[in-house]
Order: sequence, then C-alpha cells, then structure tokens
Amino acid sequence: MTTETVELRDTPVLDIDPYSIEVLRDPYPFHQALREAGPVALIKPHGVYAVGRHAEAKTVLADYARFSNAGGIGIQDIRKPGEFRIPSRLLETDPPNHTGIRAVVTRVLSPLVIRRWKEGFEQKAAAMVERLIERREFDGVEDCAEAFILAAFPAAVGVRLPRTETLAIGEMRFNQSGPHNELTRRALERAQPYLQWFEESVQRQSVLPDSIAELLFKAEDAGELDEGVASNIVRSFVGGGTDSTIAGVGFTLNQLARHPDQWQRVRSDPAKVKAAFEEGIRFESPFQVTYRTTTGETELSGLRLEPDTKIGVFLGAANRDPRHWDEPDRFNIDRPQLAGNHVAMGTGLHACVGQMIARLESEALIGALAKRVKTISLAGEASYRPVNQMRMLDKLPLRIEPA
Ligand code: HEM
Repeated sequence: MTTETVELRDTPVLDIDPYSIEVLRDPYPFHQALREAGPVALIKPHGVYAVGRHAEAKTVLADYARFSNAGGIGIQDIRKPGEFRIPSRLLETDPPNHTGIRAVVTRVLSPLVIRRWKEGFEQKAAAMVERLIERREFDGVEDCAEAFILAAFPAAVGVRLPRTETLAIGEMRFNQSGPHNELTRRALERAQPYLQWFEESVQRQSVLPDSIAELLFKAEDAGELDEGVASNIVRSFVGGGTDSTIAGVGFTLNQLARHPDQWQRVRSDPAKVKAAFEEGIRFESPFQVTYRTTTGETELSGLRLEPDTKIGVFLGAANRDPRHWDEPDRFNIDRPQLAGNHVAMGTGLHACVGQMIARLESEALIGALAKRVKTISLAGEASYRPVNQMRMLDKLPLRIEPA
C-alpha cells in the first residue's frame, strides 16, 4: 500500500477501556465514540488500534495481505513470549496455509451435507416449543436458546456438549481473547476442571458418527489434512459455533418480544424467520470484536499503522454505523439485503464457515415458535453477562401465549 501518495493524519486517541464491565454491559456509547473518533483510533488503555465504521471493518477483514490472522484474533499477539495458546489452524492462519484447510472444511460443510441435519433440528425445536407452551413463562436464554443449541448442535458438530462443561469452556475462550483482566482470570479458573474433558471430546475416539467431526477425521485419514488438524478444527467448531448461536438466537427473541408488530410479520410470512435472525445478529452482534495484525507498515483511511500492530475490528459497532445503515439503532426485519451486508458473521477469507448451520438451527427454533406461539413478550428485564470478546445475554424472562 502506498504511504507516499496519501497525506497521513494523526491517529485519534480514545481513552475508554472497551473491556471494562460498564462497556461490556452496554457497548453502544463506546461504539459511537469509536466511530466518531475517526476511521481508526488508538485505544489508549491497551495500546491497540481499532475500527468501528462499516467501511474500514470490511477493508481490514478483506485484506489478509496487510492484516494478518497469524497473531491471533484476540487482543494479544499469540506469537509473543508468554502469550501462546493453541491457535486455530483455520481462523488464526493466513493463506497459503488457510487455503487448503478451508477448502476441505467447505467441502465437508456443503449444503447437501448440512441439509441432513435440518429435519433433526426442526423436530427438536417443535418438541421444545411444546414444552415451553406448557410453562408459558421461562428464561429465553437457559430454557430456550441455550437448551435448544446444546440439544441440536452436538449431532451436527459431532461433540457431546454437557451444559456446565461447555459453557465454562466457552466463557474461558471468549474472555481469553481479551486482555488479562479479572474476567479472564476468573474464567480460566472456572474452566480448569473441564479442560481435560474438552481435550478428549475433540479427539477421534470421542466424536459422534455421521457428523462434521467424523468427516474431518476421514479427510485426515485420506491425507487431505495434516495429522492433528482435524481435532484442532473440531475445537474451533465447538468454540465458534456454540455460544455465538445461543447469543444470536437470544438477541433475536429479545427484540421480537419487544416488537409485537414484527413478531406478527414473522408469524404471517415464513421468509421473515430468516430475516429476523439476520437482523437479530446485526442489531446485537455475538462476536463484538476480532483482531488482525499488520504485516508491514501500512495506511488505513489516511492513518499510518506500524508493522506488527494489533487492530481490533469492532463488528458490533460496524453493524450500527449510521454511515452505512438507515436508522441503525432500530430493529427492523424488513431491512433490504441483510445477509452479506452486516459483518456479524465476518467477511472475506475467514467469513464464518458454519453460518449455514447457525442459520438452520435458528430458523428451526424461531420457525417452530412462529407456528405455535401467538404472542411473545418480556416477563421481566433482560440482563447481560460481561464477556471480553462477546455480547451475551444472561437472563431473558419471556412469556408466550399459544396460537
Ligand atoms: C450466530 C452464530 C455465529 C456467529 C455470529 C459467528 C461469527 C463468526 C465470525 C465473525 C467469524 C469470523 C471471525 C474473524 O474473521 O476473525 C466466524 C468464523 C468462523 N466460524 Fe462462525 N459464527 C457463528 C456460528 C458458527 C457455527 C455454527 C460454526 C460451526 C458449525 C462456526 C464456525 C466458525 C469457524 C470454524 C470460523 C473460522 C473460519 C475461517 O477462519 O476460515 N461459526 N464466525
């Protein structure tokens, strides 16, 4: 990239900690400050750069030659002494290493393969909705989004997902991608008893038959993946696909409960089930931030970045950038061209490879509710759980009336 032809400006400095409990509970004022500060800002408390506007988010995610994944997608550079953790061989690597692995995973996740799980998801969703109707009031996180994903996802991914263990491992992973703060320390401590369980669950002898995991081990046997890569990717699948989908389904239900008119649109038009989930994850993005590292000195929107600089892409901020979205703070399932426009699933080479599964699962659940539930409303205030990298609902008290 030419630094000579562009007049470089000073980088704005933002003295806000995006990982403070206050910001994690309500990130929107920080997002606005980040977008307003400029196309790129220095986050003073952590000495990293960040983008919150839609255009720059897309640029950074798409340009792997200048913005690399090899330093890890968290705030720490995992290549530096003391920061090592096992990197994802898919997400935390660049071409050419990423290319061959992604090609195998894309084949394993072909639409034909994925559709096999559709019916199972729909049966589980229908049974769950009947149980929820009997209760009328329930927690939209624990009893609905979480219970459904933990019941539906194992058959597809091929790993058994007991609640306590799975949630503890998820909390560890998504706090660990942030700074070494109290959240990370506590999550690591809580996950400690389950680390061995997780390690064993993603090995060949533990995975469920007829699943993504089994297909990946078969690809390893056929020499398409190097030894050890299959279990590493299964680990990324469990990590990338569990909490994110629980969060996305929870956000969608929260907004549908707040907007009865839009719930009626979902009930009367099956195409709106899909739109509701897309708008749900645009409106509140499960993965709030992902990092890249500059490969050399470069320029981004007129600002100079040194080599080996961490730059955070705040997906949640980009998904509400008024430069790109009309009325960004309004939940609106009638927005044109949602999928592929929001960045909740990333974009470019590393765009979510499991997005079709996430969509199938959420459409199965929201679709089953739409068929059987006339009204859905809040039975109390929703609350959020602070997690460094993620936006997560903690409680979502819901009340439903059957049709
Ligand atoms: C609502 C649910 C989901 C959301 C919001 C989500 C979000 C994302 C995002 C933002 C990325 C790109 C990260 C980056 O570029 O740094 C990503 C990548 C990825 N996701 Fe998802 N995801 C979801 C569901 C899933 C599911 C269900 C799976 C597995 C079945 C999955 C597996 C992965 C994997 C393996 C990658 C890495 C792809 C690569 O590096 O080539 N995700 N996801």
